[in-house]
This record gives sequence, C-alpha cells and structure tokens, in this order.
Amino acid sequence: MSVTIAITGKGGVGKTTIAALMVQCLVRLGETPVLAVDADSNANLHEALGVSYDASIGGIREEALQHARDLVGVSKQEFLDLRVQEALVEQAGYDLIVMGRPEGPGCYCYANNVLRDVIQRLAGSYRHLVVDNEAGLEHLSRRTLLKVDTLCIVSDCSVRGIRTARRVAALVEEMGTPVAARGLIVNRVPEGVLPPVVRAEVEASGLPLLATVPADDSVAAMDAGGMAVGDIPADAPARQVVNALVAEMLRAAQGGRA
Ligand SMILES: Nc1ncnc2c1ncn2[C@@H]1O[C@H](COP(=O)(O)OP(=O)(O)OP(=O)(O)O)[C@@H](O)[C@H]1O
Ligand SMILES: [Mg+2]
Repeated sequence: MSVTIAITGKGGVGKTTIAALMVQCLVRLGETPVLAVDADSNANLHEALGVSYDASIGGIREEALQHARDLVGVSKQEFLDLRVQEALVEQAGYDLIVMGRPEGPGCYCYANNVLRDVIQRLAGSYRHLVVDNEAGLEHLSRRTLLKVDTLCIVSDCSVRGIRTARRVAALVEEMGTPVAARGLIVNRVPEGVLPPVVRAEVEASGLPLLATVPADDSVAAMDAGGMAVGDIPADAPARQVVNALVAEMLRAAQGGRA
C-alpha cells in the first residue's frame, strides 16, 4: 500500500508546514521510505524539515541544456539519472527532492521528458510521497506527472479562504489533474474550532473536510525564531492533528485495497 499526498492552496495558508509534519509523521510510523517533493519554485520545504539541499531538478535541466551538444542519447539519459540521484537529500526514513525554478527561454522538451521519466521511476522506489506545491499551480502534476491519491487543499480559517479553496478544487478538476480523492484542510483555526460561518461555507463547498488544524503557538514561535517548523514538540496541537489525518489516510488506503 502506498500513498501519494499532494498539498495545494493559495499563498501562505500553511502548505509547507503541513507537508513537513506529514513527512515526519510517516517516518515516525515507520511508513518508510518517504519521498518529499518540493514542487514550489521558491523552495522552502527543506527549511521546514531542517535540512539543506545543493541541487534542484530545475538546475539539472539548465545543466542538461548547456551540455546538450556534448551529450547524446543514452549518455544524456545517464547524465540526468545520475544528477537526480545526486540531488536527493537523504535523511533517516525519507529523501527530499527539490524541483526548483521553472525553465527559462530555450527548448527544454527533451530534458523535461527525460526528467519526468526519471522522477516517475524514482517515485516508484518509495513507499509514500508527499508533494508540497506552489500556490496557484493548479496544473500541479504537469511537472512531475505523478498520480495523486489525495489532494489536500489547504485554506485559512475564513469564508473567503474556503471560497478560494473551492475555486482551486474546480481548477484542479478543469486541468484534468489525475487525483483520486481531494479534500479540505482548514489551517490556523483559533482554538481548533471552526466558527459557524466558516463551517457553513465548508459544508456549502461540497469538499470533504479532512482536518481542522489549530493555530499553534509553537509553529509561530519556530517561524519567528528562524527554526524548522518540523522541530515543534511531539504534543504540539498542529502536529497531533496532522498525525491523526495521516493515520486516517493510511487506514483509508488500506481499506481501499482490501
Ligand atoms: N497551524 C499554524 N499555526 C500557526 N502558524 C502557522 C500554522 N500553519 C502555518 N503557520 C505559519 O503561517 C505561515 C505560512 O506557512 P507556510 O509557509 O507553511 O505556508 P505556505 O502555504 O507553504 O506558503 P507559500 O504559499 O508561501 O508556500 C508561516 O509563518 C507559518 O509558520
Ligand atoms: Mg510553501
């Protein structure tokens, strides 16, 4: 049983925070190896996880373009394969791959095709995948072509936020993104309880509510201190809610297979 979880939503709603907590939860449960994919061109999942990276897929693509004339056929494929392996940030229980910046001017078709292939093969050697996406990238699978089991649309705790999440869901559908299930995560909820107007908007959205993540002082404190959000305590309210959600997703995936 394996699960690919993708996180989307408008800017600053907590996608990266939730993605990092999900990765850590899977690792803690021994659901390894996990591949964490930072698909935001302004990469910061590594910071949330408290690790650093040297190379990104975007950088590798640029390199491939530079060497296009020197490398042909199989050697080009091998070159890209090797570079992607080198770009993996290996950690206990999980690896991180950073997609990096989108392509500049030039013809990247060949490199993109090969890279998609490399990423898909790479993904196959992990038990679970967690993909942190860029705000506004509803065509989220175009760069990786990964099939998503659960798309988590994150929203802040406001009526407007839920409406935006609804639009994001509609756009994802329009783009034909291959997503098996999708749902809403409302983040930074005061005291962890949805105000009635927000709850009503969630119900009107028709999107299943996956989780209500409380506004968590320990998350804010990590952020203010320039520390990794992944270092919040084991009993931090936000972490506990994300843990419960991950456990539920695993149960659902297991049930779905039986
Ligand atoms: N549950 C929470 N409680 C308190 N603060 C939170 C919570 N979740 C996220 N934050 C804070 O909200 C801010 C945005 O979070 P984050 O970077 O995870 O959002 P994002 O959706 O990934 O943003 P971007 O669109 O820029 O990638 C950060 O300062 C983070 O510390
Ligand atoms: Mg982010």
